[in-house]
Amino acid sequence: MAFNLLKGKKGIIFGALDTKSIAWKAALRAHEEGAQLVLSNAPIALRMGTINELAKAVGGAPVIGADATSLKDLENLYSTTQEHFGGGVDFILHSIGMSPNVRKGKSYGDLSYEYFQKTLDVSALSFHKMMQVAEKMNLMNEWGSILGLSYIAAQRTYPDYSDMAQAKAVLESIARSYGYRFARTNKVRVNTISQSPTVTTAGTGVGGFDVFYEYSEKMSPLGNATADDCANYIISLFSDLTRMVTMQNLMHDGGFSSSGMTEEMIKDLVKK
Ligand code: NAI
Repeated sequence: MAFNLLKGKKGIIFGALDTKSIAWKAALRAHEEGAQLVLSNAPIALRMGTINELAKAVGGAPVIGADATSLKDLENLYSTTQEHFGGGVDFILHSIGMSPNVRKGKSYGDLSYEYFQKTLDVSALSFHKMMQVAEKMNLMNEWGSILGLSYIAAQRTYPDYSDMAQAKAVLESIARSYGYRFARTNKVRVNTISQSPTVTTAGTGVGGFDVFYEYSEKMSPLGNATADDCANYIISLFSDLTRMVTMQNLMHDGGFSSSGMTEEMIKDLVKK
C-alpha cells in the first residue's frame, strides 16, 4: 500500500545489485511512494547485475556508475544528478558492503591488512566520502535524510563476520559525527539502520550465514526483519514523519537486540 510519503522528493540509491538487494527493494518502495530516483553502483556491479531492469521499474531512473570509494566518481555522479533533477536531492541510501577478507575466507587471526583497509574503505569510509562530497557540492536539500545499513556485529562479536564488524562500528560512528555536522549546516539527518540477517549476495557471503540466520530468527520475538520490512523502514526515515531523528543507530531486528533468551530457543535447545 502506498501513502505518497515521498511525493516530490528526489534521491540517490546506492547498492542495488539484484532483486534480493535491500537497495533494490528500497528503490521500488521509494518509487511507489512518489520519489524520483537516480540509481548507482560500482561499475563492475553494473556490468554483472540487472540494475537496468530496476531502472525501468522505477520510472526510467538514470543509472550512473560510481565506485563509492572514489571521490572523482562521486563528484561525477552528483553533478550528473544535479543536472538531471535541476537541483539537489532529499535523500541518499548507502547500501554498500564488501570485505575481501570474508570473500577469501581468511581467519580473524590471519587477516590481510591490505584487504582490511579495502573493507574499511568500501564499507565505511565511503559513507564519509559520500557525505563530504555532497556537502562540498551543496547536493543536499534542507531537511534531507541520509541512511547507511549496519549490523549488530558492530556491538557484539559474531564468528565469521570478521573485519566487517570493525567496518560497521566505523560506519555507525561516522553517522553520529557527520549527523552532527550536517544537522548544523543543512538540517540534514544521518542515521544507520541495524538490520536482521537478510538473504542477499552480501549476507550469504558471510560464513555460517544459514545457521546464524536461523539462530537470529529464533532469538527475535517478531522473527527476522526481511528486506521488504527494511525497505519500509527506510521509506519512513526518508519521509517528513521522522525529521527529528538523527545521529542514531536504529535497531530493525524483530527485537533480537533486546532479547536475552526466547521460548523458541529454549524449546530448540531442550529438544537437542
Ligand atoms: P548486496 O550484495 O545486494 O549489496 C551490497 C552492494 O554493495 C552491492 O550492490 C555491491 O555492488 C555494492 N558495492 C560493493 N563495493 C562497492 C563499491 N566499491 N562502490 C559501490 N558499491 C559497492 O547485499 P545487501 O545485503 O543488500 O547489502 C546492503 C547493505 O546492508 C550492506 O551495507 C550490508 O552490510 C548491510 N546489511 C546486510 C545484512 C544482510 O544480512 N544481508 C544485515 C545487516 C546489514
